[in-house]
Amino acid sequence: MSFNNEYNNIKSLLSPTLEALDREILSNFEDQLNLKEYIKAPSKHIRPVLAFLYLKALGKEITPEQIKLQAVIELAHNASLIHDDVIDECEIRRTQVSLNKREGNHLAVIGGDFILSYALEKLAELKSTELLGIFSNTLKLMCKGEINQQKNKYKIPTLEEYIQKNYQKTGALFEASVKSSLYLAGIKDKNSEFAGNFGIAFQIRDDILNITKKRTDSDIENGIYTAAVIYSGDPKDPYSGIEKAKSLLNNYTGKVKEEIEKLPESKYKQALTGLVEILNNE
Ligand code: IPE
Ligand code: MG
Repeated sequence: MSFNNEYNNIKSLLSPTLEALDREILSNFEDQLNLKEYIKAPSKHIRPVLAFLYLKALGKEITPEQIKLQAVIELAHNASLIHDDVIDECEIRRTQVSLNKREGNHLAVIGGDFILSYALEKLAELKSTELLGIFSNTLKLMCKGEINQQKNKYKIPTLEEYIQKNYQKTGALFEASVKSSLYLAGIKDKNSEFAGNFGIAFQIRDDILNITKKRTDSDIENGIYTAAVIYSGDPKDPYSGIEKAKSLLNNYTGKVKEEIEKLPESKYKQALTGLVEILNNE
């Protein structure tokens, strides 16, 4: 089954919660620059979906605070996409003309900051310095990942450097979505490392698709060399590294599945297993 079909099935388990998330995301937003259009544009909400399913699999209810917390995660994700499009000079975001293309880089930087400020305002409503700590550390890691990528353009990284960058850029926010929701639920005996690995796998998959689907914002043309190039050793021939890149992805999804396997049987555990498995699909 395709990623999208299976993903929609999984998401349907959480329909009312995800509708509440959509409402929370825009609940007190004073729009500037028509940013609402980007925030509202179709998103998979995959970080909240992972955190909600995990909480449900642990037998917890999704409270309004949990929804607010995941709204903060999604808003930070949105801000990072807007800034990412400035850096990558990307003209399309979620099928729409990107903010940098519509308003120019200067306003797109401020637009991303504006969404981040709104995310912080929401986080403050949760009145937790612990959550603030998780959140600020995560944003710092995401910045480090981007700096790392920009400073190493046109260099083939080692596999270890590549994984570290993927953790910083993508894994950290996935991990934060689960770590912060466990904290808020008062669960102390579970760790969220699996969510970091989920994020690493998610990024490896995206990097493979960037090559095989020949996206308009080609990583290789931008000097960003990912798993397939690391394995082929030649940016002009990424295809001979694709199979190994897929096994690397499979390695990471396997690690995540081992953790999910430990959960008690439930439809939420099954959905989590499905969510990890579809990362191997197109
Ligand atoms: C896109 O993230 C950026 C990556 C980390 C690859 P998503 O694929 O989660 O973006 P949306 O929110 O669904 O558009
Ligand atoms: Mg980028």
